[in-house]
Amino acid sequence: MGLQGPKTAKWFERGKSALVDGVSSNYRYWGDDDTLVIDRGDGAHVYDMDGNRYIDYQLGFGPIILGHGDAAVAAAVAEAAADGVTFAMTTAREIEAAEAFCDAVPWVEGLRFTNTGTEATMHAIRLARAHTGRELIVKFEGAYHGAHDYVLFSVSGAPVDSLGSRRSPVPLQDSSGIPEAIRSLIRVVPFNDLEAMEQLFRREGHLIAAMIVEPMLGNFMGVMPEDGYLEGLRRICDEHGSVLIFDEVKTGFRMGLGGASEAFGVVPDLGTFAKSMGNGFPVAAIAGRNEIIQDWAAGGVLQAGTYSGNGIGVAAAKATIDILATGEPYAAIEKTGTTLMSGIEGILAEEGVPGHIVGHWSMFGISFSEEAPRQYRDYANVDEDLYGRVILGMIGRGVLPVDDSSEPWFISAAHSAEDVALTLEAFGDSLQDAKK
Ligand SMILES: Cc1ncc(COP(=O)(O)O)c(C=O)c1O
Repeated sequence: MGLQGPKTAKWFERGKSALVDGVSSNYRYWGDDDTLVIDRGDGAHVYDMDGNRYIDYQLGFGPIILGHGDAAVAAAVAEAAADGVTFAMTTAREIEAAEAFCDAVPWVEGLRFTNTGTEATMHAIRLARAHTGRELIVKFEGAYHGAHDYVLFSVSGAPVDSLGSRRSPVPLQDSSGIPEAIRSLIRVVPFNDLEAMEQLFRREGHLIAAMIVEPMLGNFMGVMPEDGYLEGLRRICDEHGSVLIFDEVKTGFRMGLGGASEAFGVVPDLGTFAKSMGNGFPVAAIAGRNEIIQDWAAGGVLQAGTYSGNGIGVAAAKATIDILATGEPYAAIEKTGTTLMSGIEGILAEEGVPGHIVGHWSMFGISFSEEAPRQYRDYANVDEDLYGRVILGMIGRGVLPVDDSSEPWFISAAHSAEDVALTLEAFGDSLQDAKK
C-alpha cells in the first residue's frame, strides 16, 4: 500500500518526467508509491497534494525550528528580496546577521556565510588543511557532513558488517564517483570510543589536519557523547596540533542558542552551521577562532561563492536568531520534546517492546533494541523492520517522522500540546498494529 493519494500520485508521475526520480536529493526518494509531493507547510504541519495533513517531525531534515512559514522570518525575507539580494559586495544585512551570530555563539570570533552545510564543511576542511599543512581528515562512522567527496565515507546507512574491525575501520565510500585518492586521506573511527581515537593518533597524529565531529550524532538517531568524550577529543587534537571541527549543521541553534559547544561545554577550533539558523532558508556559516579563520584574510586560503551572504539567507538568519535569542522557542521545544520522549518511553514499557529514546529534547531517536546505541556499529542490533512498520502506521494516522530510524525526530516551537497528544496516540496504535 503506497502513501500517495490520487493527486499526489499524479504530481509525482509528472515530477518524474522532469526531475530524476521526482526529487532534488537522493535522500527524498521513498520509492515510487511512497514519495510524497508537498503542497505547503504551516507551523508544525505539512499538507500533501491531496490535502492530507501531517504533523511534521522531519522538518526538512532539521532546519524548521520555528515552524513552517514563520511570519516574522517570511516578512524579513520579503523585505530583503524587494531590495535586491546579490551584489558581489557586502551588505548591511550581512553584517547585522554576522553580529547576531557572534552574540549567540560567544566562542566564535568571526565567520563567513555560505549557503549549505556541504559548502561549510568543505571550506572548514580546506582551512584546517591549510592551517596545519597536513592532509588527513578524521570522521566518525554514521556521521554525515554533506555530499562532497572529502567526507562521504561510512555515513549513516552504510552496511555495519562492512565497517571492518574497531581497531582498523574501513572507510566505506557512500557513492560511486569518489576518487580512490580521496579515500586515502580519510580515517574513520567509531563514536564514543576514545581508545580507538588514541590509537589512531598515536599512529598518525602528526599527519592529521582535522577531526570533524557531529558533537551528538545528528545523523544517527541523535546518539549523545558519553561523559568526558568530547573533552577527550579536544585533548587529543591539542596534543597533536590537529584542528577540532564541530559540525553543528544539525545541533547549531537547535540544542540551544549556543548549540552543542554550549550544551556540552567544549569549544572547538572551527564550527560549521546551517539548518536551524535560517528556519529553512538556505544560509550556512563557517565560524571559528581568529588564529585559523584569519587565514582567509591573508588571501592564501580561498573561500568564495556567488550567493554567499545573499540577502535572502542573511535576512532569514538575522530574523531567526533574533527570535531564538528570546529563549521562548527553546522553552516550547524543551516542553514538547521531553513530553514526547517520556510518552514514547512509557508506551514502549506498557507494550513490553524493548526500546530506547536517545538524544536531546530538540532532536531524538527511537531505537528498537535491547541496549541503547552508543555508536553507529550498534545499528546492527536495531529492529529496523519494526520501526519501519510503526512509522508507516503513523504516517497513515497523519504523523510524519522520517521512515528510517537513523534520522532523528526534530521538534519545532510550533508543535502544540494537541500535536503531542495525537502523536503519542498514533505511536501507541501503530506499535500495537506493528506487533501483530
Ligand atoms: C551534520 C551535517 N553536516 C552537513 C550537512 C550538509 O548540509 P546541506 O544538506 O545543507 O549541504 C548535513 C545535512 O544533513 C548534516 O546533517
